[in-house]
Amino acid sequence: MRHTDSIEKLIAGRLARHLPLDETHLAGLLETPPSPEIGDYGLPCYALSKYLHKAPNDIAEDLRGKVELPEGVREAKADGPYLNFFLDRPAVTASVLKLIHGLGSAYGSDDVGAGKTIVIDFGSPNVAKDLGVHHLPSAVIGRALYRVYEKLGYRCAGINFPGDWGTSFGSLIAAVERYDVPDPDALTVSDLQELYVRYTRDAAAQPELLQTARDAFARLEQGESRATALWQAFRQIGLEEFDQVYGMLGVTFDHVNAESSYREQIDGMVRRLLDQGVAIESAGALIVPLDDENLPPCMVRKSDGTSLYMSRDIPAAEHRWEQFRFEKCLYVTGSEQSLHFKQLKAVLKRMGYEWADRIEHVNFGLIRMRDPETGKTRVGSTRRGEMVLLKDLLQEAVSRARAKIEESSGRFGQDADLDDLAAQVGIGAVVFSELSTRRTRDVIFDWDSMLDFEGDTGPYVQYAHARLSSILRKAEQEVVDDVDFALLTLPEEWVLARHLAGFPAAVRRAAAESEPSVIATYLLELCADFSSYYSAGMRDPDRRVLCPADDLRAARLLLVDAARHVIRGGLELLGVAAPERM
Ligand code: ARG
Repeated sequence: MRHTDSIEKLIAGRLARHLPLDETHLAGLLETPPSPEIGDYGLPCYALSKYLHKAPNDIAEDLRGKVELPEGVREAKADGPYLNFFLDRPAVTASVLKLIHGLGSAYGSDDVGAGKTIVIDFGSPNVAKDLGVHHLPSAVIGRALYRVYEKLGYRCAGINFPGDWGTSFGSLIAAVERYDVPDPDALTVSDLQELYVRYTRDAAAQPELLQTARDAFARLEQGESRATALWQAFRQIGLEEFDQVYGMLGVTFDHVNAESSYREQIDGMVRRLLDQGVAIESAGALIVPLDDENLPPCMVRKSDGTSLYMSRDIPAAEHRWEQFRFEKCLYVTGSEQSLHFKQLKAVLKRMGYEWADRIEHVNFGLIRMRDPETGKTRVGSTRRGEMVLLKDLLQEAVSRARAKIEESSGRFGQDADLDDLAAQVGIGAVVFSELSTRRTRDVIFDWDSMLDFEGDTGPYVQYAHARLSSILRKAEQEVVDDVDFALLTLPEEWVLARHLAGFPAAVRRAAAESEPSVIATYLLELCADFSSYYSAGMRDPDRRVLCPADDLRAARLLLVDAARHVIRGGLELLGVAAPERM
């Protein structure tokens, strides 16, 4: 069920018959001219001069005479160094608007993924530590990719892999014992965090405390009952905290498979690595040399016999393969872990697993908070250097959104439930802000720009959606698709319809690049197109959607309804709410 085959490809295919470049290359060269009067696609012929050794203007003229136009393309015109193509606009408009009307929220869906599974490891925070702003990207990028793949027909398995095992638990156990903490079950995550910090600080002065912590972790790995009971308490405290914060974001998982659930598989895995000759002993530790891949050796067991992060990721990956036979297994984790995932992949390959190539580290940059007074940015911390808690950030976003809505409510009407709306707009603003930047770049959080209803923000897209919904409510008539498409003659209408046709391609590209920002950018552009259309209508009554002529109004309503469907669908993929009124 592929809904649109891109017209660029069709044009590029016809051009390829007359040029020494292939279709894909030519499709990549096609541009969108600055205004629709110039054309719908333009081929810059100066890019071809080096292959044809001819002047760009001559190439354009020559190609115009030769190229056979595919269906949906009405005309080709040479314009200086460009060869511009004009689509058969009513035909293209009719096909896309009918399609969207028929499919509704399923528009953009595909079945390329049928029968295939994508595993997405996201969230996956370390237990017994506060959730800071730096935990936001994995949660929201992971969810968006989940939804994008699901839309393409894949089965998705969203796995939260909390870090609930490791030396830091040794430190916590040692801290509780050292400071005689009375009631460990009653601690909060922040208490645990403080304990950990205190212990680490003391250990800097008294290095033997480090050994005590390592010993405590070894006791835990050996299943000693006191250590185990404490660990269970810490773990419970941490997991409850996650439920709360992920709940605020509306992020959910299909499976929670914590690191500790693989602890029993570690010995067996290590034995196999030794038997296969993949791992060797080095200074008492076990390592996998990876010189062939130009990587530093990968440690799979420490010299004191305890396990580490990698020792649990290997059996976890094997388990995922057993369970899902995945097409891809994505790990949505910060860029600072890129070596870890390269090593994981390399070790799995050494173990003879062909599926290791299906592992992909979906990395991302840092979040920087802009200080409103100094304008400077800091990585996830306040001026005093404290980590910004994710729940505080979200709460602040909601209260700021509320103030904004109240301030402008004269303009937007006030019938919606303000609490709900403030949460949808505030959290939507945070999520959109994270997802509208290419993921490998750092994101700057700046309250004013994040909540600007006129900037490149979540609230701007939500507001466009609410305006579209309001037009449809005011129309008080059913939207139908047997309209006269030839009546949609305004350039703004064509620009909008054409953009709507591009949604399925944006969804595919977001998956291919594991990049939710493709959807966010698409939506911002679409909303800008809608805004131009809408403001044209404000200036000139003949351009209003709700115009007096019945047939024209019906056609415009179909266009507006299609735009609303697509914006809603796009926001849904990003995990941002689409309120009907703002
Ligand atoms: N717990 C790790 C951290 O907070 C991220 C885990 C990512 N997933 C994985 N399978 N390694 O940095």
